[in-house]
Amino acid sequence: MDTNRRNFVKTGAAALAAVGIHNTLGGSVLAPSGVLGANEKINLALIGARNMGWYDLEDLLKQPNMECKTLCDVDDSVLKEKAGELVKLGLKKPNLEKDYRKVLDDKDIDAVIVGTPDHWHCLPVVEACQAGKHVYVEKPLGNSIGEINAMLDAARRYKSLVQVGQQQRSGSHWKNAIEFVRSGKLGTIRHVKFWANFNYGAGNKPVPDSVPPAGVDYDLWLGPAPLRPFNQNRFHGSWRMFRDYGGGLMTDWGVHLVDMGLWAMDVKTSPTSVQSLGGNFASRENALEMPDTLTVLYEMDGYNMSWEHNGGVETGPYDQNYGVMFMGSNGTLVADRDRWRIFPEGNNDGLRMDPLEDQPSDHKSHINHCENFVRAIRYGDALAAEIGIGYLSALYSHLGNISYRAGEKVVYDEKARKISSSKLADSLVTPEYRKPWLFPSI
Ligand SMILES: NC(=O)c1ccc[n+]([C@@H]2O[C@H](COP(=O)([O-])OP(=O)(O)OC[C@H]3O[C@@H](n4cnc5c(N)ncnc54)[C@H](O)[C@@H]3O)[C@@H](O)[C@H]2O)c1
Repeated sequence: MDTNRRNFVKTGAAALAAVGIHNTLGGSVLAPSGVLGANEKINLALIGARNMGWYDLEDLLKQPNMECKTLCDVDDSVLKEKAGELVKLGLKKPNLEKDYRKVLDDKDIDAVIVGTPDHWHCLPVVEACQAGKHVYVEKPLGNSIGEINAMLDAARRYKSLVQVGQQQRSGSHWKNAIEFVRSGKLGTIRHVKFWANFNYGAGNKPVPDSVPPAGVDYDLWLGPAPLRPFNQNRFHGSWRMFRDYGGGLMTDWGVHLVDMGLWAMDVKTSPTSVQSLGGNFASRENALEMPDTLTVLYEMDGYNMSWEHNGGVETGPYDQNYGVMFMGSNGTLVADRDRWRIFPEGNNDGLRMDPLEDQPSDHKSHINHCENFVRAIRYGDALAAEIGIGYLSALYSHLGNISYRAGEKVVYDEKARKISSSKLADSLVTPEYRKPWLFPSI
């Protein structure tokens, strides 16, 4: 792509996003502008290709005029497999790269997908913004509060479009559920509850440390995380249950579900306080650091908000192993990725609200989310999950984990970007990066 067009892709779309006006669901609506011809190709690179990043790439490549120029992963076998899949799809063989910094040096790449484990979101996203690229970054935005603040600053300063992989924001049945909550039909909402019960949240059986698999640059996989011997349980896929790389179920599912509550209740700031209780109660023998059992109470203005997860089980309230519940005086709305439902309240005098048939999902949230990212770059459409949205739900989720780790109720001062209630909890806000990696300063 020539330099002028690259600048236009960046500044044109970001400038339009900046003048967006707010619609009733809190997003922005932009006048159609036709900023960029639909025939202009957008060059993509994928950083972290094994699982979710690959799904993101697949759906982004279904959009018109997209090309994957480079695949980047620290594992040769992932690079080989995914490059083969692109060729099988009849697409050009991409460049293969192990070091994401070389991807960001390529001036022809317009946008990057960051599909690495959570501890490897911050640096590539900040540096991609600095390199003038747009970003589709998987959720949770970062692995700590310090990181999500730095990422927010970078996106704002360099005016990059950053879509966070919270695809429920692009799901039509979620949008309808949020509108219903906001309509007032449920009456006064007193409790917003989220829960996530998943077997994988109990971790795996321990295995001994070993040598890293051939073709894996393990030092680069660890990156800014502390150096330690390789262990399969802390690697591909299962890194989520170890705090150097992820935040367990609280952040893995928390950001998706808490986001629905923040959206419906139009929350724009941190909670008044956060109190968590939990532990590794059911899977003491397994390899995991994050609690298999956690309950978090968020102090909100005029209602309660709560999170609960249980690893190792897959049943739950309303016969759903995960979900979001809005309890109102007239009825309760319960939603998951398949549908939303209403449970009207009433007594002998009758129901306090009209019953409603179950509202099914069309299961198109992910493809819609990818389309939205491309349209934001091409035409200036407002991003469905712009970085501020990813920031806020990650903040709530990380505060839940910090309260658990510190063993105390925490109060976060969003302006000062500090946990004002305790030095111990505040020390958990920003991780120490392992040299030579430096925590970004924007
Ligand atoms: N939006 C969703 O619904 C959803 C679902 C699943 C996962 N995710 C998110 O996607 C991200 C990836 O999760 P996953 O399940 O795909 O993990 P994974 O472990 O299966 O894949 C991560 C890939 O990143 C690679 N990688 C690690 N460090 C790298 C580096 N420095 N440079 C390049 N590649 C690197 C690994 O080798 C691996 O191939 C996580 O943040 C996760 O929370 C989101």
